[in-house]
Amino acid sequence: MSIEFSYPISRRSLLGAGGGFLLATTLRARAAAPIDRRIVAAPTRARLAGVGHPETDVWAYDGTVPGPIVRLRQGVPARIVVENQLDQDTTVHWHGIRLPNAMDGVPGLTQPPIKPGESFTYEFTPPDAGTFWYHPHANSLEQLGRGLAGAVIVEEREPTMVDRDLLWLLADWRLTAEGEIAAGFGNRMEAAMSGRVGNTVTLNGRVSEEEPARAGERIRLRLVNGSLARVMALRFEGHRPVIVAVDGQPCDPHEPKGGRILLGPAMRIDIAFDLQGEPGRRYRVIDDFYDGLSYWVTQLAYDEKAPIRAHPPDAPLSPLRNPLPEPDLADAERHELTLQGGMMGGGGMAGMGGMMGGGMMEGGMMDMGGRAAWAINGMAMTGDGHAGMEPALTFQRGRSMVVTLRNQTAWWHPMHFHGHSMLVLSRNGAPVPHRQWQDTVLMAPKDAVEVAFVADNPGDWMLHCHVMDHQMAGMMTVLRVA
Ligand code: C2O
Ligand code: CU
Repeated sequence: MSIEFSYPISRRSLLGAGGGFLLATTLRARAAAPIDRRIVAAPTRARLAGVGHPETDVWAYDGTVPGPIVRLRQGVPARIVVENQLDQDTTVHWHGIRLPNAMDGVPGLTQPPIKPGESFTYEFTPPDAGTFWYHPHANSLEQLGRGLAGAVIVEEREPTMVDRDLLWLLADWRLTAEGEIAAGFGNRMEAAMSGRVGNTVTLNGRVSEEEPARAGERIRLRLVNGSLARVMALRFEGHRPVIVAVDGQPCDPHEPKGGRILLGPAMRIDIAFDLQGEPGRRYRVIDDFYDGLSYWVTQLAYDEKAPIRAHPPDAPLSPLRNPLPEPDLADAERHELTLQGGMMGGGGMAGMGGMMGGGMMEGGMMDMGGRAAWAINGMAMTGDGHAGMEPALTFQRGRSMVVTLRNQTAWWHPMHFHGHSMLVLSRNGAPVPHRQWQDTVLMAPKDAVEVAFVADNPGDWMLHCHVMDHQMAGMMTVLRVA
């Protein structure tokens, strides 16, 4: 079994100078035994709104919402048995991890669905350290919406030096007055607009009043947007967080534009900062993405104690970069993927009628009457993945690709590509700085974004919008690396 030792470095070992740090690194090298664990998906109840509020029926991994943090190690083999105790098929997708196609968790496309009462063994060796997450890819609008999600932390070989390494998995729920999850997954009108945006945002599974802070601390905070559809723009009152990684991949450290951290569904952003607020004070963390609907996610609540250090430490904030293959831009093949459809955009719903051929319409449209609301390059693949999905593009293995994603619609779309990470080159003609690699690229209405990657991972890979109702309603395609 894996040996657990304190990570991140405890406050005490850091204060006790470099000695504790060295010890942790030595222990890690010895503890590189394969990771072996089991995760059970089953219904349970959770107290999302906190004490004094009703419990909610949820679907969960290992009985908790969110599921347990799956801790893996860069370059160390992992074996994870997923057992399905739901009354419907499921799978697990390890979002953002570059793994073999057969372990990608897309039903029909990469594996048979896990039937109720059965299990599936996922085996892979994560090449990249960073913040990832896991969720179902079967009936995913409802399964994610009822709580099936958890974070994956792939630990670096050389940990970054922080006092605390925190993770906030943010999730958005649509609850009724009785505290139950509202019915109506797959509402057709919503699916053609913003998707199922909820009314309750939780931080690690509960509505958060405050999170403890200590003046002078240096923290790394891993933000995961596990929402179905809610885009977030987070501001940390009184603080200046530095973005050190996007979608698990370290970037050049930089402060977010306008102090707002834009986090689309399925995206992760790691920030690092020194807590330089005043002891005893509270600072809000505000999400003001939707006009007029700003709210606070939580508050950083400083205790009364004096700062743990007088000045921020000298150590660099940023983790080491991952071994991503560098695309050869001069010799890259060029492709375009155009996002179409939705209400009041891209020619509207009416113009979509001619695009729905090709037998792509079967496959779990839920109650949407079999009609797609969205398409990519004129083709709508609906549902979650199923047998017989033909690739829209085929890439020669090992070739560099530059793909232009064009959003012709009037809506935001976080576009996720499985099995690869993409270097974001430009947005609307302007170069994107800080060398940001992403597996999920948030597209504003009418945006055009250029990404580059080496098609080095063989198999059929899904590319889709991570607003779950958009994916289910046609904003999905398959890219083949052969
Ligand atoms: Cu996080 Cu295809 O998904
Ligand atoms: Cu979308």
